[in-house]
Amino acid sequence: MLRFFNRFASEICYAMCLYNYKNISRINVVSLGCGPGSEVYGIIKALRFRKIVVPIYYEGHDLLDVWEPVQNLCRNSLTSTQHIINFHTTNLFADFAGFDNNVVNLLILNYLLSHAAKFYTKQGKNQFVDEIVDFIIQNNVKNVLFNDISYYGNNISLNSGVQLMKLMISKFSSKGVKYTVRYACFPSDPYRGNEGWQFYKKNNLLFQKLNGNNFMNNVDYCNSKQIFVHILQ
Ligand SMILES: C[S@@+](CC[C@H](N)C(=O)[O-])C[C@H]1O[C@@H](n2cnc3c(N)ncnc32)[C@H](O)[C@@H]1O
Repeated sequence: MLRFFNRFASEICYAMCLYNYKNISRINVVSLGCGPGSEVYGIIKALRFRKIVVPIYYEGHDLLDVWEPVQNLCRNSLTSTQHIINFHTTNLFADFAGFDNNVVNLLILNYLLSHAAKFYTKQGKNQFVDEIVDFIIQNNVKNVLFNDISYYGNNISLNSGVQLMKLMISKFSSKGVKYTVRYACFPSDPYRGNEGWQFYKKNNLLFQKLNGNNFMNNVDYCNSKQIFVHILQ
């Protein structure tokens, strides 16, 4: 966490600086595979950059409880803000209670799908993507932000987060879900397909390096691929 938190949070901030905040009085966020919740800080920083004052209602889900001490630090450090931050170790697909205004403005998949690409079987990957698509349809999800390792991968072996995200997008089409999609990457991006990737102009980290954190070697800049899907209906 001391190694990657700054990078992950910074990457999310870059993406959320481009988010369309029009007509929005709060942002309901669900993060699947939230871990320590680095995206919370990325979103808050983007709101500050954009001078937008709206509360975040954040529900982070991760099946592992190893993150709990860090999640508690995160929640405690934000209690004096207007943001409502909750973490769960339950299965999102079975246990999501929903928000009181019945909309999920943003589903975040922050370094989740590369994890699935690495550890799940081919059948498991397909099933996982199906579950996410059903969750999106059933819970009125308006936007999906994928932020993950830059590795492009291969569509037959589904060996990258990017390929799982592309599979998800193809499933939207086959289920009649209308959407727009934007592909983004950072200046040092090694390789990508012909989806029309847009390069950020900068890749510098956006949070100050903590004194005494000696774990950030070789993690000095943003380096992810991002796919932003806006669901139209
Ligand atoms: C690389 S970490 C993600 C880190 C986190 N998003 C962050 O910002 O630091 C991947 C996480 O995905 C979680 N994960 C994998 N499959 C999951 C699933 N089906 N449901 C919930 N969490 C899952 C893992 O437990 C792990 O904590």
